[in-house]
Amino acid sequence: MQIVRTPSSSRAIARTLARPVGLVPTMGALHRGHLALVERAKRENATVVASLFVNPLQFGPNEDFERYPRSFDADAAVLEAGGVDLLYAPSLERMYPPGFAARVGLDVVTAQYEGAWRPGHFGGVATVVTKLLHAIEPTSLYLGQKDVQQVAVLRALLRDLDFATNVVVVPTVREPDGLALSSRNAYLSAQERAAAPSVFRALETVAALVRSGETDRARVLAAGEALLEAPLRWDYVAVVDPKTFVPLDPLRRPGIVIGAARAGSTRLLDNVPVAGADGIDPVLTPENPRRRNLTEKPASSRSMR
Ligand code: PAF
Repeated sequence: MQIVRTPSSSRAIARTLARPVGLVPTMGALHRGHLALVERAKRENATVVASLFVNPLQFGPNEDFERYPRSFDADAAVLEAGGVDLLYAPSLERMYPPGFAARVGLDVVTAQYEGAWRPGHFGGVATVVTKLLHAIEPTSLYLGQKDVQQVAVLRALLRDLDFATNVVVVPTVREPDGLALSSRNAYLSAQERAAAPSVFRALETVAALVRSGETDRARVLAAGEALLEAPLRWDYVAVVDPKTFVPLDPLRRPGIVIGAARAGSTRLLDNVPVAGADGIDPVLTPENPRRRNLTEKPASSRSMR
């Protein structure tokens, strides 16, 4: 596995790689959830590129940027063993040189839920992912379902700014008791860890009620909220429109049940998609690339109109 450190060397090397190219963006502290992204990218591409960069722009002033787990050598070994061909791991100074002033912003999806709890977070994610896409120019970007609002933000970004990259969403990987894997689970105390699976149980209960045709938002959310175990506390539970993240009221399908619970200063995020009557999963089903004009036709059959 080759390791590159600058945007220009990354792009120069990436342009020589066999296509299709899958990009797995990470902030390190890798777990089985990241490996599921790498495995899927391996199956679907000739080349797999991973990036490893702890992005300060997506952390708030009182968040865990300084103490975010950093384990470069172990992470690089895991990626190499997983079959990653190229690792892009820029330093802070290369990613954001002195005077760096650009920000990528979106008018939708970024203000509510995680956007409200973490002001500036999605702008930071959109900015760094834009830079990663320029450095690698991948065919597909592999994202985990767990950060489902991030998925919606990045789908909108790639669509609206005409990136020639597909988004592939990989199902959340869970512990046997249902807790979604996250690098931040390492922060949980024994008591918080024991209560943590109640987040997923609560969201599944809400999803089951929506699937059964319940439309009363207050009653359904109260049923889910009641299932959270102490010492966890909800930041929010909601059923939202999959594209806009506007809360559904009355409830209907398709939708996404989202929730964030607090365990001390650690936040546990999870979600359960609810398919529409057509059975299409609103998170995991790929967008139709034809609608986004990403299917390359042979030059001879291209119309100039
Ligand atoms: O999901 C993450 O790990 C990060 O938000 C990402 C996409 C690597 C951007 O820093």
